[in-house]
Formats: sequence, structure tokens, C-alpha cells
Amino acid sequence: PTEQVLAGKTVTITAGPTREALDPVRFITNHSSGKMGFSLAEAAKALGASVNLIAGPVSLNTPTGITRIDVESAEQMQQAALEYAVQSDIFIGCAAVADYRAATVAEQKIKKQGDEITLTLVKNPDIIATVAALKQSRPYTVGFAAETQNVAEYAQGKLVNKGLDMICANDVSDSTGGFNSDNNTLTLYWKKDRLELPHSSKKELALTVMQAIAEKIK
Ligand code: PMT
Repeated sequence: PTEQVLAGKTVTITAGPTREALDPVRFITNHSSGKMGFSLAEAAKALGASVNLIAGPVSLNTPTGITRIDVESAEQMQQAALEYAVQSDIFIGCAAVADYRAATVAEQKIKKQGDEITLTLVKNPDIIATVAALKQSRPYTVGFAAETQNVAEYAQGKLVNKGLDMICANDVSDSTGGFNSDNNTLTLYWKKDRLELPHSSKKELALTVMQAIAEKIK
């Protein structure tokens, strides 16, 4: 049996992509499947935590004994994240949140027009930076950074700029890991520490990540 190192702790995790509407039938999104975030939720539960899983549109079954909150857009994810973060000991942002959304969502289906069409996008709120900046009831805040190049440098930049306690640098430069794969390549960074993990399944990595967090908050 797995040692219950997260007994009595509440963990909130975001997972999957967000979906930003353009009109009633179209949207902008990305290739996140939710597998990494759902694996983290399962691992946290196995270690004894009470788990809230805020999920963008994914086609995965809810792990047993977990509270799942379904959302679509980044703004909806932000609202749910803040509501649950303040009740949590640990917040993990594993979702691939769209950085931009359409400036206006057309009420009717956009009709085919000339040879070019211009889409104006505006910035979405940074969910995890908002959680990390909480003045009261701030959870231990863990981000992910999906990078195709300069993985260590970009991930450490996000750790500092977003005010996080820890970041999981995710090398997504090839198909052996990252978006939609069952496996992954992660290196964990703290301000003064790092832990390179062997390439392995998202399920195994999730357990290692949750155990590393439990060790840090002890
Ligand atoms: O879902 P899978 O198919 O299993 O794939 C897993 C994954 C590759 C999506 C996951 O492991 C991962 O790396 N997630 C982060 C994806 C990402 O692109 O992050 P980012 O570098 O854009 O953002 C950095 C951090 O800020 C993340 O914790 C993200 O959740 C958060 N963020 C980003 C933008 C935004 N507006 N709000 C946020 O909170």
C-alpha cells in the first residue's frame, strides 16, 4: 500500500485544454488530452488527499472518489480555480490554458468572406499567477511549463515571473512525451533545487511529483 503522505490535505488540479469560442460552432484550443492532470489527481487521491479536478473539455473518465468540475474557457477555469484554490493546501496548474481568446464572440455563425479574414485576440487572465498572488489562504502553488526549446531556462523564468513554489518543466519537443502521449519527460524546479525525472508513464511521474510536493510541504 502507498504511504498516505497527503492524508488530511486538499489538492486542486487543473487539467486539459481550454476552449475559446469564436462563434456558436467554432473555437480555438490545443492538443492537451488531460492525461497528465488526471494522473496527478489519481496519484494525489492514492496518497490520501481530498482532490478537486477542474477539467477543460477532455474525453477521460473521472477517477474514483474525486470531485470533478467541468469548464470550457480560460475565464471559466479561472473562476473555478480561485473558488477551490482558497480551500486547498496545494494547487497544481497542469491545464494548457489558451493565452488569448477572441475579442468578441460572434453571436451568429461567421459567414465565409473574402480571401483573408482577421481575428482579433485579447489576453486571457493568467490563472496560476492569480492563485500564486493570493494574500490570504494561498496554497502551495505548482505550475507546468510545456516547452519545445530552452526548456530549463523558460521553465525557471515562469517559476519566478508567476510567483510559483515549484514548476514541472515538460519537454514537448518530440512525440515521446507531452501533449496526448501516455508518457512524459519532466524536470522539477524549485527556486534553489531541481530534480530530473526519468522518462516514464504519466501515471508513474504523477506519483513521483505528488510525493515530491508532499516532501516539500512537510
Ligand atoms: O493533457 P496532456 O495531453 O496529458 O498533456 C499534458 C501537458 C503537456 C498539457 C502538461 O503536462 C503541461 O505541460 N501543461 C502546461 C501547458 C502549458 O502550455 O503551459 P504554459 O507554459 O502555457 O503555462 C505555464 C503555466 O501557467 C501552466 O501551469 C499553466 O496552467 C499556467 N497558465 C498559463 C496561461 C494562463 N492564461 N493561465 C495559466 O494559469
